[in-house]
Amino acid sequence: MPFVDTEDLSSNAMLNLPFAVTIISQDGTIALMNKIARESLGLMKEDCIGRDFNEVDFFANEIRLGMAIEHLKKADKSFSRYYHDNASNKIKRMTFARILDNRGRYAGTLLMSMDITGKRKKQEELVRTVSALKEQNSKLTAMLDELFFGSLGSLVQLVEAKHKYTVGHSIRVSDTVYSLTEHAMGISSQQADIVIAAKLHDIGKVAIKDDVLNKPAGLSESEYEHIKSHPGVGARIVANIPRMNEIAKNIRHHHEKFDGTGYPGRLEADGIPLGSRIIAIADTYDALTSDRPYRKAMSTKDAVRIIEDEAGSQLDPYWTKEFVGMVGKGIII
Ligand SMILES: [Fe+2]
Repeated sequence: MPFVDTEDLSSNAMLNLPFAVTIISQDGTIALMNKIARESLGLMKEDCIGRDFNEVDFFANEIRLGMAIEHLKKADKSFSRYYHDNASNKIKRMTFARILDNRGRYAGTLLMSMDITGKRKKQEELVRTVSALKEQNSKLTAMLDELFFGSLGSLVQLVEAKHKYTVGHSIRVSDTVYSLTEHAMGISSQQADIVIAAKLHDIGKVAIKDDVLNKPAGLSESEYEHIKSHPGVGARIVANIPRMNEIAKNIRHHHEKFDGTGYPGRLEADGIPLGSRIIAIADTYDALTSDRPYRKAMSTKDAVRIIEDEAGSQLDPYWTKEFVGMVGKGIII
């Protein structure tokens, strides 16, 4: 079996690696520098091998090899730095690793330099593409929101046009709900959902027959059942949009009563969605203070008295108290 010198083998392997490799001995002399490393610095073999690394400007000044070696002598980990090579206009990753002797003591430094320009460019391109897509996506979402809320606004107008006594009802209810929730909860996405639900709470009346909707009194049982379908219809109109789930819930239950005698779910107390409980107060207040075919609009004082009487039976007592307090302060008119 022919004798194989392992040192020669490792040196040859180092010299033929497809990236720049340099070995600095413990005394600071350059022990090995492969062709790629020499060419990248424009050096001939005799300019570097056996010389102190401080004589090579790139090692001494550009990458401050002295500091890196001092760091390696103390730490037991290799590390990398990125730098821009002005001469070739390339981004390179320089890795510094310790070479240890048989006893595990520092014996020299291994330097490897790789051109990562292509990889970095691809990463940058990817980041640019992702951020452009995000921007496009948020523009599209904003456009869809505008379109969607615009359409729902038209639907609210359509409902109010069908019923002569409810013109402006949705806006007044949502204004009251806005004042009440902003004061008690602060501005949040939950508050925004409740206000949107207030604006859309009667949207399901689009499916109610005009003659039933405008009948002043004496509804038959089947007509009353027909009217009672509007919260469910309204909820279904918006429920197909995933982020409107909460809004749909608040619409579906705006005719529930605190004592569990309302519809459609006969839900009770805290089992009724918060937004529905708040909308019910504003809805009652607007109904009492608006003209009806069978009576004139009530004064604020009379309406507040009725609402206070309904706290705990039809309406949520906590939110009724908040509401009455805000009417008293003139925040809700
Ligand atoms: Fe309603």
